[in-house]
Amino acid sequence: MAYEHVGDNPFTPSFGEVPLIMAGRAQVIQELGRSFSSASRRPILTSVISGARGTGKTALLTFAEAQARERGWVSVSLVSLPGLLEEAYEQSCRQADHVIDMTLRTKRISSLGIGPMSVGISHSETTTPGWRTRMSVLLDRLAEKGVGLLMTIDEITPRLDELIQLTSAYQLFVREERRVALLMAGLPHNVSLLLNDKSVSFLRRAESIRLGRIADHEIERALRDTFAQSGRSVSDGVIEEAVHAIGGFPFMMQLVGFNMWEEGGTSKDIKDARARRGIRLATEEFKTRILLPSYQELSPMDRRFLQAMLQDEGDSLLSTIARRLGKTNSYATQYKNRLLEHGIIGMRGSRSVGFELPSMREFLVEQKG
Ligand SMILES: Nc1ncnc2c1ncn2[C@@H]1O[C@H](COP(=O)(O)OP(=O)(O)OP(=O)(O)O)[C@@H](O)[C@H]1O
Ligand SMILES: [Mg+2]
Repeated sequence: MAYEHVGDNPFTPSFGEVPLIMAGRAQVIQELGRSFSSASRRPILTSVISGARGTGKTALLTFAEAQARERGWVSVSLVSLPGLLEEAYEQSCRQADHVIDMTLRTKRISSLGIGPMSVGISHSETTTPGWRTRMSVLLDRLAEKGVGLLMTIDEITPRLDELIQLTSAYQLFVREERRVALLMAGLPHNVSLLLNDKSVSFLRRAESIRLGRIADHEIERALRDTFAQSGRSVSDGVIEEAVHAIGGFPFMMQLVGFNMWEEGGTSKDIKDARARRGIRLATEEFKTRILLPSYQELSPMDRRFLQAMLQDEGDSLLSTIARRLGKTNSYATQYKNRLLEHGIIGMRGSRSVGFELPSMREFLVEQKG
């Protein structure tokens, strides 16, 4: 067979990388774009994104930042860790450098030891204004140029004081009608704990973006288009098998696509047998990289709940599970909630649950055997 030139693998089975084509999420993407262009304030500018591991929270934050920058905003990416406030200020100054000259960066200058000013001056001796004042000055300067500031905070944890302080200050910035946006992302459990913190109760009125499974037809289109835009193709039948294996899970879409591409060798039209091998490899890798560690984090009762779901072919009624476990409905509900927060199961209507992760059923059967 003649050697055909095949480009680099376009799939991104990694962390937070914006994929070549985002499957689904069209509405949120469109609304974000609109809100960064709009002169009036749109609600999505203050949003809390929640979703299980690998559902695309970080990728969406990164995507939003790129959109904001394209529309002239200054944008900073933060992680909910100690030092958050200073990091937010420092990054904002750095990112705003091309628009404004921040002469108030005293602390940074003295800590770098530039010029005679720094000699013998420790941080505590300088009259560095408080964080909120410094941020306000920065925002004033940006406002003079008509530039907005987007802060994204990933991996939110409820127990970080600085996160509470930052969101409280943000609320004031909004009240002062400043051009600011705050997008936060975290695991469902951490998000609900944060929203329950009384000092940031205004966040409960923020937009809530829940990332879950992506519809099969959206996955199919994104998969096909990623291959097509990168100059390769896969037969319709195999695409269908791939969509089935992906089960609407963003990370799995990248893993399946990546393996199909790699196994496809040097031909532009990837042979069915090779593509199928790619799907099989991806499914195995998903088990060891995602399903097994997720399962190991669960308590024995969580596991029993999942095993009890196996007796149903499709979704399971909560009351049936409670009966199988020999427990009350409210006892079973507690475990249902835990599993929902782990992103392992999802609600199907108001009284039934189903598996949220692809291949979970097969994996559980293997664990049992
Ligand atoms: N809409 C999407 N369509 C296709 N692939 C996506 C989409 N969103 C994210 N991905 C891909 O899925 C993978 C996981 O995304 P990401 O790291 O953003 O998830 P996460 O929710 O932040 O996970 P974690 O909780 O582990 O941080 C990445 O490889 C990314 O490229
Ligand atoms: Mg992430």
